[in-house]
Amino acid sequence: MKVLIIGGGGREHTLGWKISQSSEVDKIFFAPGNGGTSDIGENIDIHPDDINELLKFAQTNNIDLTIVGPEIPLSMGIADSFRAKGLKIFGPTRDAAQLESSKAFAKEMMAKYGVPTGRYEIFDDYNAARHYLEKHSLPVVVKASGLAAGKGAIVCMSKEEAFKSIDEIMQQKKFGEAGNVVVIEDFLSGKEASILAFLDGDRILPLIPSQDHKKIYDGDKGPNTGGMGAYAPVIGIGASDIEYIKEKIFKPTAEGMLKQGIPFQGILYAGLMITKEGPEVLEFNVRFGDPETQAILPLMKSDLMKIITEIMDGKFPENIEWAQGYAVCVVAVSQGYPVKYEKGKSISIKEVDNNNIIIFHAGTKKQDAQLRTSGGRVLNSVGIDKTIENAKKNAYQGITAISFEGMYYRKDIPVI
Ligand code: GLY
Repeated sequence: MKVLIIGGGGREHTLGWKISQSSEVDKIFFAPGNGGTSDIGENIDIHPDDINELLKFAQTNNIDLTIVGPEIPLSMGIADSFRAKGLKIFGPTRDAAQLESSKAFAKEMMAKYGVPTGRYEIFDDYNAARHYLEKHSLPVVVKASGLAAGKGAIVCMSKEEAFKSIDEIMQQKKFGEAGNVVVIEDFLSGKEASILAFLDGDRILPLIPSQDHKKIYDGDKGPNTGGMGAYAPVIGIGASDIEYIKEKIFKPTAEGMLKQGIPFQGILYAGLMITKEGPEVLEFNVRFGDPETQAILPLMKSDLMKIITEIMDGKFPENIEWAQGYAVCVVAVSQGYPVKYEKGKSISIKEVDNNNIIIFHAGTKKQDAQLRTSGGRVLNSVGIDKTIENAKKNAYQGITAISFEGMYYRKDIPVI
């Protein structure tokens, strides 16, 4: 089977690493991939948003299945375009991808179908949003409704911060059109968790729970990033909790989408806050998480390719086999990330004599046989072991094998 993976981050390297172990896979292409994916497949120089070129490539190269990593091509309708040409693609349609591409749509779906989530209001008028904020208690969360690369949700501790946020989003268009509509919602407190599930219509198969660490600095301080690390499975979230989340969150969402005439096929990622009252949805994503995938897939014993092909063939799998133990992922980033950073720094990765460490590439590029940085999040070191302590030790042993000028990473992952 020839597989095309769209994207070039740590998530896509991990997806490729996992499916490359399947006897069903003969060749993997990555568009555009990174300095690590070229070791397990072939990188092709097509941007993930260039749907026409991706379509042409898939047709010309007889790709049997395409797996989409990032949200933007899904929100642009890549799954619709591929299916219209008879090509198999794993990921939701543009309409179904609204669960991520429109926070307003997701909130309205949750309200309509009884999915627990924070109280909210939706605004397309700046003055009305400001008026609502004047009376709202603190903290309050202001979200750009559209896609904003994970930076569109702002927790505001003061009224000034809240006013500034709607001004930047709605008036100054900090996130472009994504800020035409804002969602203002109650702040929820508790423990955060990412629960991902395979979905096909109303059939649901959850993965092990994971937790990412979005803040740049230790102690969960500083600005949000795409994710500085993750671990799985989450301590304190057991099988009965996952069953509860499946029943109370995934089931009404999946059935609601069917009732709306928008069946969902792919990965649905529920970003949850486990509050005193139970789990509530902070956000939905319509794809694998990054860096959650780097912590989840090394523990998956089942054949991921088989799971995906079964879903595509209408034979929904019943369960997934998991290895005992934990995986911890620590992300090495470029100096200045998530704001401004330089690229092109040469990278050295020393050999480590430890089978419980996997290095997944993200923003790396091979240039004349030299590996160089090409993004903010550069490399992921994943440590696996029976105990969380040893998994962490392995992840940090992997990190010490990596070096590049300006390399930064958090020292406190996982925060349990
Ligand atoms: N880890 C957050 C995300 O994938 O959106």
